[in-house]
Amino acid sequence: MNKLNLFLAAVLGSITGFLVAKKSVCKQPQVNKLIAQYRTAEHPIDPLFINRWSPRAMSGQTVSKSEINSLLEAMRWAPSSYNEQPWRVLYVFKDSPEWQTFFDLLVPFNQEWVKNAGALMLLISKNNFTHNNTYSISHSFDAGAASQNLALQGDLLGLVVHGMAGFDYQKAKEILNIPQDYTVEAMYAIGKPGEITRLPEALRTTEHPSDRKKIEQFATEGKFIEAIK
Ligand SMILES: Cc1cc2nc3c(=O)[nH]c(=O)nc-3n(C[C@H](O)[C@H](O)[C@H](O)COP(=O)(O)O)c2cc1C
Repeated sequence: MNKLNLFLAAVLGSITGFLVAKKSVCKQPQVNKLIAQYRTAEHPIDPLFINRWSPRAMSGQTVSKSEINSLLEAMRWAPSSYNEQPWRVLYVFKDSPEWQTFFDLLVPFNQEWVKNAGALMLLISKNNFTHNNTYSISHSFDAGAASQNLALQGDLLGLVVHGMAGFDYQKAKEILNIPQDYTVEAMYAIGKPGEITRLPEALRTTEHPSDRKKIEQFATEGKFIEAIK
């Protein structure tokens, strides 16, 4: 091989590598067909935002450590006040002995469908800044940013990531050794998508992407107005 051939092979190799890597992280360049039946963006946005939704139907398959690592990696890059990164995550896989401890915290409604998840995550946040130990007014807000990164990366990986507030926050704090100056924020069911028939009958009719308010119902120029109440 002469130098030009070597150069071309190297360029071709890195382009192929890039495309393969990109495909494995980003599977949904367009609004997917199911979503398009229920959701329409009124202004140009990346399809990423409307493709994400919270299904309840999951297959019962486990999720891998590398999938969990990709979700945590996405959370890692969320913005936060003073770059404090106050989010903390406790997680369990379906086949771990601690699964039951997390699962038992859920209200019965959530247990009905979370039983087919592959992992559970609990998101907590550190209330105080580390640099001066004063209260951070945005600790939950910052954790919320990490939460959205988690949800979007999950969707890009073809996983279900379903947030839940339906669990016992106080008990979670007690039995999972969470220090007093941390706040329990939310729990997440994570799994592989499954057939709708795996859901209890009552949950099947609502198993589709939801719509949203119009922009003028939540945003306005200037002071607060009646229209956004
Ligand atoms: C903090 C939080 C708590 C939630 N709690 C529950 C819950 O306990 N059970 C449940 O089935 N869904 C729960 N959800 C899912 C919401 O109902 C869902 O995100 C919302 O209806 C919007 O739908 P979408 O996520 O499909 O766009 C929760 C979502 C969030 C962000």
